[in-house]
Amino acid sequence: PDHRPLYGRHVLITAGPTHEPIDPVRYIANRSSGKQGFAIAAAAAASGARVTLVAGPVHLETPPGVDRIDVESAREMADAVKSALPADAAVMVAAVADWRTRDFVDQKMKKRGSAPPALILEENPDILANLSASDKRPPLVVGFAAETNDVVEHATAKRKRKGADWIVANDVSGDVMGGSHNDVHIVTSKGVEDLPEMPKEDVARALVERIAAALEETAGG
Ligand code: C5P
Repeated sequence: PDHRPLYGRHVLITAGPTHEPIDPVRYIANRSSGKQGFAIAAAAAASGARVTLVAGPVHLETPPGVDRIDVESAREMADAVKSALPADAAVMVAAVADWRTRDFVDQKMKKRGSAPPALILEENPDILANLSASDKRPPLVVGFAAETNDVVEHATAKRKRKGADWIVANDVSGDVMGGSHNDVHIVTSKGVEDLPEMPKEDVARALVERIAAALEETAGG
């Protein structure tokens, strides 16, 4: 038998940025590299889980043993997450764009010497909050929070607001976005665990260990 700690579990992970199209050649994006989410997918697969990784546009290799679904926009990511359920644990690491343009223009917008266009934005669905509230809610839902100040306070509020079991707060005041290291605090109902700054692969392994332990507890092993 396979004694790896996540054997028999399905772990659903989102990673990377989303791209929100403006016209066929332009989009709204952010600086997420996807590294932390891909590292968590790799660590979960190495621990024996079946892993579904819903990835925004990134330049990263698929980790061994991971089922990857590529998406562009937040709405595509939301649909892919729904389709991947049920799961034993969900780890929403993606830096989902908060806004998309209200009106996609299906031909390239031209300058033509006229005034610059005004982009009208509307809010994207909150994938994490919707998952937490859904009737297919995984037993363990983990969100991330990128903060530059009052990291733990913001994450504690976010945990409640989003209905997540845990929020992994990362301090992005340094060069975390795109960088190789991460400085995280795991906020749960029981309190806060501060991890030292370390490579994203080590953060991933630490988190996966805790996920395996939590699933043992909640789902009776
Ligand atoms: O609200 P904020 O973007 O700071 O929340 C971050 C957390 O929520 C992350 O886990 C992120 O993946 C998730 N999120 C989401 N869908 C959104 C916005 C954020 O799943 N539209």
